[in-house]
Amino acid sequence: MIKKITHAVFPIAGLGTRCLPASKNIPKEMLCIGNKPLIQHIFENVRKAGIEQFIFVTGRNKTIIEDHFDHAFELENHLEKNSKNHLISDLHDMMAQTGQIVYTRQQRPLGLGHAIACARQWIPQDSAFLVVLPDMYFTHETALIRDMINLHQTSGHNIITVKKILPSESEKYGIVKPHTTDSIDKPFSITQAVEKPPFDKAPSLFAISGRYILSTDIFNCIDKIPQGHAGEIQLTDALNELISIQGTYALPHDNKQLFDCGSIEGLMAANVNWIYNNETISQSLKNEYGFSLTQKS
Ligand code: G1P
Repeated sequence: MIKKITHAVFPIAGLGTRCLPASKNIPKEMLCIGNKPLIQHIFENVRKAGIEQFIFVTGRNKTIIEDHFDHAFELENHLEKNSKNHLISDLHDMMAQTGQIVYTRQQRPLGLGHAIACARQWIPQDSAFLVVLPDMYFTHETALIRDMINLHQTSGHNIITVKKILPSESEKYGIVKPHTTDSIDKPFSITQAVEKPPFDKAPSLFAISGRYILSTDIFNCIDKIPQGHAGEIQLTDALNELISIQGTYALPHDNKQLFDCGSIEGLMAANVNWIYNNETISQSLKNEYGFSLTQKS
């Protein structure tokens, strides 16, 4: 019997160099899409998909994230005195329940595989768990995670989301090798994963896009691998080990649902998309500032 997926690991120790200077003192995960920090959007959407326990693997300079998910007593007192109780209840809805998020530090920047290994103590043995890379913002995250969970539950396999890329982009991503070369638009089995290969070494044009359901065997795989790309312990290398012992599916998705908010361009695009989808704000931008916005195709 396949166990329910209840735990998600968010590796959030990264320094955010692609978002400088905005991310110099504000963690990149706290930069906003519309009126909420990126990490808040993702946390809510993942929680809606049924995840109960969150492990945030943080680093120095990230304590503001912990504060964000906690009560803000002075602010709440102030709002209460000024009869703004609706704002208090909005703040409460955004918060995690007591004990729902645990924070642990990746004490040295040794790579994504190492960050995931930092969460090991918190994941129930012999289960599978979700990994969420919060740079990658999916507009339909809740549906996507539900699809991943269903696919895991019906197949028992590890599941990795993938997106189609251009040849020139292969060096930005982990690239998977499909089991067959038939035309692929549904979930497909993979036989290999390579971290950021040059195009002529890329096994396909399917790039890992930041959501994984992995069995806890990944931890032993991480223990086994040497330093890889950029001298780091790469999750992709550990995946290669995992794929050699367990079935693993790639789940393709529509690229239009995804914004890479680890870059300023992606963050701005996610904000423009948020405006398109928020009628009140669109109208006021039009009326007050003369912007005319139409929905992205
Ligand atoms: C990480 C992974 C890579 C994946 C990418 C998705 O790379 O190592 O395999 O394709 O996330 O965003 P990073 O962007 O952290 O360098």
